Amino acid sequence: MKKILVTGGLGYIGSHTVVELQNSGFEVIIIDNLSNSSLNVLEGITSITKKPPIFERLDLRIKADVIDFFHRHEQIAGVIHFAASKAVGESVEQPLHYYENNISTLIYLLQECKAHGIHNVIFSSSCTVYGEPDRLPITEEAPVKKATSPYGNTKQISEEIIEDTCEVDPQLKCIALRYFNPIGAHHSAMIGELPVGVPQNLVPFITQTAAGVRKELSVFGNDYETSDGSCIRDYIHVVDLAKAHVVALERLLQNNNTSNFEIFNVGTGKGTSVLEVIKAFETVTGTKLPYKVVERRPGDVVSVYADTTKANEILGWKAERSMEDALSSAWKWEQHIRNI
Ligand code: NAD
Ligand code: WQD
Repeated sequence: MKKILVTGGLGYIGSHTVVELQNSGFEVIIIDNLSNSSLNVLEGITSITKKPPIFERLDLRIKADVIDFFHRHEQIAGVIHFAASKAVGESVEQPLHYYENNISTLIYLLQECKAHGIHNVIFSSSCTVYGEPDRLPITEEAPVKKATSPYGNTKQISEEIIEDTCEVDPQLKCIALRYFNPIGAHHSAMIGELPVGVPQNLVPFITQTAAGVRKELSVFGNDYETSDGSCIRDYIHVVDLAKAHVVALERLLQNNNTSNFEIFNVGTGKGTSVLEVIKAFETVTGTKLPYKVVERRPGDVVSVYADTTKANEILGWKAERSMEDALSSAWKWEQHIRNI
C-alpha cells in the first residue's frame, strides 16, 4: 500500500481527494492545522471509507515541525499539497499572511521532499493564474496574466518555485493542477464545503439562501457581454476534481510523465452563467431562489472556461458529473449540516 501525504486534507477539496485515494488503495496521512476545517471532517471521511486516515494536526509554517514530521514518517511515496489560504478578498487585506502561508509551506515541503527522496508532488493551482483570458476555452498555453490579488499571485509564484526546483532536480516530478470552479459535495453528504462566515463563492451562497440562512442572493451584474449578461465560469464537481488528483498521482508514480513539471487544466470545458446556475438549482431542488441583480463585483473576470483536451488525452481523465449532480449534492450537504 503506497503512503501519500495530503496537506490540507481536512479541507474542502482535500477531504474529497482523501476519500478517492483511500478508495483507490492508497494509505493516506493528512496534515492540517484546522485553520479552515474541523475534526468532524475526519469522521465524515471515515464514515465513507470505513478506514480512518492517519491525521496530524500540524502547521506547515513551522519549519521545525515539518522537518520533525518527515523524520517520523518514512516511506512516503507522494505528496498532494492543498494546504493554503484561499479567500481572494482576505488576501488583499492580509497579503503577508497569504504570502507566508501559501509560499513558505510549499518551500518547506519541497525541501523535505528533497531531503527524504520523495519525488512525486501534486500542487493545487488555479485558473486564477489566467486572469481575463484572451481566448476561450483556455488552454494551458494561455499566458499567465499579472495577478489581481495576493492570493492569485501566490499561485503564480508557487508554480514558478516548483518549475525552478524541477529544473535543477531531475528526480523531482511535479504536476500542477489548475482547478476551475469546484462545487458540490460527496453524494453521501458526509463531507462538503464548510465556508467560514458569509460565503464569497456562488454555490455556498445559493445553498445558504435556500436554507434560509441568507435572505437573498446578490447576482453581481447582468450587463456583461455574455448570452444573458451574467458572468460565465467552468463549474466542476468536487468529486471529479478529486479523481483527477488520483490519476495525476498515478501518472507520476508510474513514471508516465513526459517532463518533470507538468500543468493540467481541471474543469469540465463547459461555461455556465450565474443565472443558468440559479435556474439549474431551482429545477434540481424544486424551490424558488430569492435573488436580485446588483452592481458588478470588482475584480470579476467576465468569462472563463477550460480547454480540457490535455487532461482528457494525456491524463486520461474527464469530468463525468453534471451541474445538476453537483447542485443537488451541494444542497443535500447544506441540508445535512443545517439538520433540515
Ligand atoms: P480549504 O480551505 O477548504 O482547505 C485548505 C486546508 O488547508 C484547510 O483544511 C486548512 O485548515 C489547511 N491549512 C491551511 N493552512 C495550513 C497550514 N499552514 N498548515 C496546515 N494546514 C493548513 O480550501 P480548498 O477549497 O479545499 O482548496 C484547497 C487548495 O486548492 C488550496 O490550495 C486552494 O488555493 C486551491 N484552490 C481552491 C479553489 C476553490 O475554489 N476552492 C480553486 C482553485 C484552487
Ligand atoms: C462565481 C460567479 C461571481 C457570489 C473564485 C476565486 C478563484 C478560484 C475560484 C481559487 C462570479 C458570481 C458569486 C455571489 C454572484 N479560487 N457571484 N453572487 O470568483 O469565479 O473564483 O473561486 O483559486 O481564484 O476568485 O468564484 O464562486 O466567487 O463566483 O453573482 O454571491 O458567481 O460574480 O461570476 P470566482 P465565485
